[in-house]
Amino acid sequence: MKIAVLGAGHVGPVIARLALAAGYPVTIAGSGDPSRIEMIIEFLAPGAVPLSAADAVADADLVVLAIPWHRFPSLEPAMFAGKVVIDAMNHWPPADQPQGTSEEVAQRLVGAQVVKTLNHIAYQDMEPPAGHAVGLAGDSPDALRVVSEFLSRIGFEPVPVGSLFDGRLLEPGSPLFGKFVKELS
Ligand SMILES: NC(=O)c1ccc[n+]([C@@H]2O[C@H](COP(=O)([O-])OP(=O)(O)OC[C@H]3O[C@@H](n4cnc5c(N)ncnc54)[C@H](OP(=O)(O)O)[C@@H]3O)[C@@H](O)[C@H]2O)c1
Repeated sequence: MKIAVLGAGHVGPVIARLALAAGYPVTIAGSGDPSRIEMIIEFLAPGAVPLSAADAVADADLVVLAIPWHRFPSLEPAMFAGKVVIDAMNHWPPADQPQGTSEEVAQRLVGAQVVKTLNHIAYQDMEPPAGHAVGLAGDSPDALRVVSEFLSRIGFEPVPVGSLFDGRLLEPGSPLFGKFVKELS
């Protein structure tokens, strides 16, 4: 399974590193020309291939959205059709919103299967994963299975928390935010 990580800031390279360590082929993109992130990726996630976002997504089975929420509208929805998409984004700064991010992601990325996960862990706490329990939420059983397997392989213990609607449980303002799920159980 090929992984594309969109976002080469704080969290994207950490997820890329974990995926590489688990043996996945990984591409990674920022918002611009891939040459702009070559050096930082060589340093932060050696082995990940910098591409444009469109090229990274086109070649991927699983896409991780690790970009700021306010940049989400800049993504072209059609390129995600048929992909399993992890939404690791948050409303930030936290604000009362009528919907969780992943509900909006699923509405916009028609044809993608969206799973919310990894958004509730600070990037500096993701390594080493050490079997830490992370929540995941989604409406597609197939996508939940794919993402659970991915999370397990990169070293986490996946804990389903429900539908995309229930994914709000993983968002800022919830007791789960900033915690590993088992800390609270
Ligand atoms: N920081 C954390 O601990 C943490 C933990 C879990 C989840 N999150 C969530 O993860 C997301 C990213 O957080 P961050 O702290 O990593 O942000 P960040 O350090 O600001 O990095 C954002 C990255 O997204 C890229 N980007 C923006 N628009 C893009 C586009 N259209 N296509 C591809 N890449 C694009 C930026 O590239 P350019 O520089 O080229 O614009 C940059 O590499 C946020 O939604 C945040 O809430 C953060």
